[in-house]
Amino acid sequence: MQNKGLFIVKPVSASPHVDAGEPVEGGLGGEVSLKRVLTARHLLLLGIGAIIGAGIFVMTGQAAANHAGPAIMLSFVLAGLACTFAGLCYAEFAAMIPVSGSAYSYTYATLGEAVAWFVGWSLVLEYLFAASAVAVGWSAYTISFMESVAHMMGSQWAFPAALASAPLSYANGEFAATGALFNLPAVLIVAAVGTLCYVGIRQSATANAVIVAIKVTVILALIGFGSQYVDADNWMPFIPENEGGDRFGWPGVLRAASIVFFAYIGFDAVSTAAQEAKNPQRDMPIGILGSLVVCTILYIIVAAVLTGMVPFETLNTAKPVATALEPYPSLTWLKFAVEIGAVAGLSSVILVMMMGQPRIFFAMSRDGLLPPFFGKAHPKYCTPHNATVVVAVVAALLAAFFPLGVLGDLVSMGTLLAFATVCAGVFVLRRTRPDLPRSFRVPAVPVISTLGVLSCLSLIGFMGWYNWTLLGAWTVIGFIIYFGYGYRHSLLRKGESR
Ligand code: ALA
Repeated sequence: MQNKGLFIVKPVSASPHVDAGEPVEGGLGGEVSLKRVLTARHLLLLGIGAIIGAGIFVMTGQAAANHAGPAIMLSFVLAGLACTFAGLCYAEFAAMIPVSGSAYSYTYATLGEAVAWFVGWSLVLEYLFAASAVAVGWSAYTISFMESVAHMMGSQWAFPAALASAPLSYANGEFAATGALFNLPAVLIVAAVGTLCYVGIRQSATANAVIVAIKVTVILALIGFGSQYVDADNWMPFIPENEGGDRFGWPGVLRAASIVFFAYIGFDAVSTAAQEAKNPQRDMPIGILGSLVVCTILYIIVAAVLTGMVPFETLNTAKPVATALEPYPSLTWLKFAVEIGAVAGLSSVILVMMMGQPRIFFAMSRDGLLPPFFGKAHPKYCTPHNATVVVAVVAALLAAFFPLGVLGDLVSMGTLLAFATVCAGVFVLRRTRPDLPRSFRVPAVPVISTLGVLSCLSLIGFMGWYNWTLLGAWTVIGFIIYFGYGYRHSLLRKGESR
């Protein structure tokens, strides 16, 4: 007899091999709406496009200045390791079950409905909250860029401070009033990207490739030119002495790892494009793991260059990459280029996140766990327009009123929970469905999958208590919605699963 309890598992069948250009069944609105057009190169660039953003351009500075010092390099290595374990597990799933629901769908197929709901709800923190967090970073770089242009033209114009940030800032466990009303540029970029998502502009592989080229060129230029100004004295002491709590020392390095983990988020977004990949069985692992490897290498080198160019305390700003270049007049042009690269690069992250979230709501709605409202497709644009509007409004409100630190940590916590569950799921599915063909296999299961679970949970452990409180509240709200709606409307439970 089928288990109809909380842990009912959605049956998974081997995915047939698909050919390029073949339409995808079950697209938005149940119509054929997506085509298998993405190659391994597209997926690799999609991953890099989603990964490089506020984490490196914004958060690195505060993590180095307040927690790790020059050992921020080590924090990047540790966070990269946890992501590598998770990336391997995502690669196995995405190649085996190439659907757009990502971790939510994998969990439904392995650990059951209640856990899948929990993961789907956590993914809201990853995608929706990340869009807001990155919008806040985008705002800081855009304002800085506009002011640089004004200064170059001889004007002293400055963006009105009352509209440049959230009313509260958060640092070292305390909130403080900033005197600002709300973050206007962050609201505007969310509104603009939300509009694009609504009318159906999809992550055009070509547009993404251009943005990735700009981002990566700027980062390579920073490494090439900035490294000439590195003073090794700035790296001493490598791990500054602990000043209590998670300020420096090993606790600081680990706390910084949990912060810069944000910089790696996005490789998993490649898995949401699985339904549009020409050959997901082969190309999903290339896209996921390839983008992760490229970005890990770039991040560690950038962290070394930034902390080598200026004393790490200087980096405590919302635009640390530009800040590190300020003392060097000969690199003013590069500061300018970095600001352009960051503004372009952060836009693509917001776009990918705001496209991913409605798709996950869409998948949950089609399973009956969310109201049909979220599963409706626009008659003309074929986009999940209702979900897109809800996502854009909520993301704009969060970006307007919350500081980056609070949003960033919540994003990381939600993502780490999803990653840990995916790692556990790989092990479970190897036991329950050893027969399924796996074109990519995580090596040394259960060692790697267990290390993935443990490293992700440890990084969550280094988050501040206030994040735990917020995560607890978020999870409670999620389960109230599940028991109030999803549990009773689940199509799988009613035996009507599509
Ligand atoms: N990894 C993405 C970023 O750093 C979310 O902006």
